Amino acid sequence: MPHFLDIHTTSQSDLRTIIDSAHSMKTARNGRPKGAKDDDQPLAGHMVALIFEKPSTRTRISFDVGVRQLGGETMVLSGADMQLGHGETIADTARVLSRYVDLIMMRTFEEDTLLEMAEYASIPVINGLTNRTHPCQIMADVMTFEEHRGPIKGKKVVWSGDGNNVFASFAHAAKQFDFDLVFTGPEPLDPEPALDGLYSTVRNPQEAVEGADLVVTDTWVSMHDPQSARERRHNQLRGYQVNDELMSHANDDALFMHCLPAHRDDEATSSVMDGPHSVIFDEAENRLHAQKAIMRHCLGL
Ligand code: CP
Ligand code: NVA
Repeated sequence: MPHFLDIHTTSQSDLRTIIDSAHSMKTARNGRPKGAKDDDQPLAGHMVALIFEKPSTRTRISFDVGVRQLGGETMVLSGADMQLGHGETIADTARVLSRYVDLIMMRTFEEDTLLEMAEYASIPVINGLTNRTHPCQIMADVMTFEEHRGPIKGKKVVWSGDGNNVFASFAHAAKQFDFDLVFTGPEPLDPEPALDGLYSTVRNPQEAVEGADLVVTDTWVSMHDPQSARERRHNQLRGYQVNDELMSHANDDALFMHCLPAHRDDEATSSVMDGPHSVIFDEAENRLHAQKAIMRHCLGL
């Protein structure tokens, strides 16, 4: 079953096809109204379930609009409102949904929940973020880099901050798309050991961003992190804020990315987010195009 569960579990050639298809679908729309359907409507007659166990703005809206542009229909579901949130097993939910819809996109907490859904569904399942990874986001980020600077192969990408789920998907992408990834952040917030070998660590942020083609950060407190850890994390991460001074150590034409939502003036200053290096809103837009290509890939359309 062609699920889209992670970047490292998708082949390099499929990843390339998805990004190329995203670029060409974006170009083909060329300023048309957002609600206008694509000419070919490959998802006509298809129903897509979008399940959220955590909040979302970009993932929810970009998938919903994307399915409609492809000619399909969506159901946006909150996990808490389904029997899923009241004890029905993931496996039974997967089997039942497979009788009603053609594709499932799920945002959940534990990766095992997503993997169980994929194991028991007879239709494709797409990862819309777990505590461990966020592959759709990084497909949009690679697409955005290519749009502005050409191939990402051999480029230097520096992540400053928490070694979290979004970083993990960057680490998977570094191997698949062959770019150099540097992590700079405090040791207690290092990425999980399973990612060792996919990136290098430089503790000093100014040193880390020397020669960077892309600087990336994310929130200091993710949705799965306890709020009680907030103050400690802020203290640990303050020195890793992406600000004008830090960006001045990167290449002059370095890009700045953030998956959003951002806590402005915590992990990145507004001067960087709204400044000349920033491509954050292109990134957000490209979620739409990249995910349309992911859905077509999963459905073989
Ligand atoms: N970047 C991202 O996934 O945003 P949402 O949480 O708003 O979906
Ligand atoms: N690391 C963040 C990403 C949100 C899109 C989180 O998991 O909350």
